[in-house]
Amino acid sequence: MMKLTVEKYRFMILFIILVIISQSALASRNSMRHREPCKRLQLYYHDILFRGTDAANATSAKVANQTALGDFKFGMLVVFDDPITADNHLLSPPVARAQGFYFYNKKDDYNAWFAYTLVFNSTQHKGTISIMGADLMAEESRDFSVVGGTGDFFMTRGIVTIQTDTFEGAYYFRLKMDIKLFECY
Ligand SMILES: *[C@@H]1O[C@H](CO)[C@@H](O)[C@H](O)[C@H]1NC(C)=O
Ligand SMILES: *[C@@H]1O[C@H](CO)[C@@H](O)[C@H](O)[C@H]1NC(C)=O
Ligand SMILES: *[C@@H]1O[C@H](CO)[C@@H](O)[C@H](O)[C@H]1NC(C)=O
Repeated sequence: MMKLTVEKYRFMILFIILVIISQSALASRNSMRHREPCKRLQLYYHDILFRGTDAANATSAKVANQTALGDFKFGMLVVFDDPITADNHLLSPPVARAQGFYFYNKKDDYNAWFAYTLVFNSTQHKGTISIMGADLMAEESRDFSVVGGTGDFFMTRGIVTIQTDTFEGAYYFRLKMDIKLFECY
């Protein structure tokens, strides 16, 4: 009789622990899904590819040529130090720089991969946000990952939704960046 009670008691404790664990797992999953960004920035990225004679104006340059694989610049690597503005005017005062690179990486269509850091050095923001991801150009809007940050953006993480705002041939394009940070310290 005594033994049975102890067994029952143990079983009840185990059951309660399991219920608590499953409830908290569910709660954290839901809160991740419905979380609002703790910080949101909407910025514009301008890229002017160097043509060989416009050194004063260009902000990026091809450093590796495309290969002969496919007709979509496969392998072409561009390094950039691009101005970032708060509105979509190229000549607006930059609020940050985007420093990094992209390369084309699809054989049968245009597609690129980006990795860059937004460097802020203004009275409003000081610090960096590091971003990377696949630019699936066929999609109207694409998501990059915010993989980290420093300064005002210490240890941040989030998502950057990118849309092509304008594309004037290969030499100038502008991206709208909707930066949603989900970790702020
Ligand atoms: C770059 O590659 C293209 C296509 O393969 C070729 O036509 C062009 O001459 C190359 N440019 C240089 C600078 O090597
Ligand atoms: C940031 O801005 C300050 C003040 O304008 C300047 O002294 C400093 O050199 C800048 N730092 C960088 C990395 O541009
Ligand atoms: C700089 O490049 C942009 C984009 O191609 C162009 O609109 C602008 O006229 C150029 N400015 C100068 C001074 O060449």
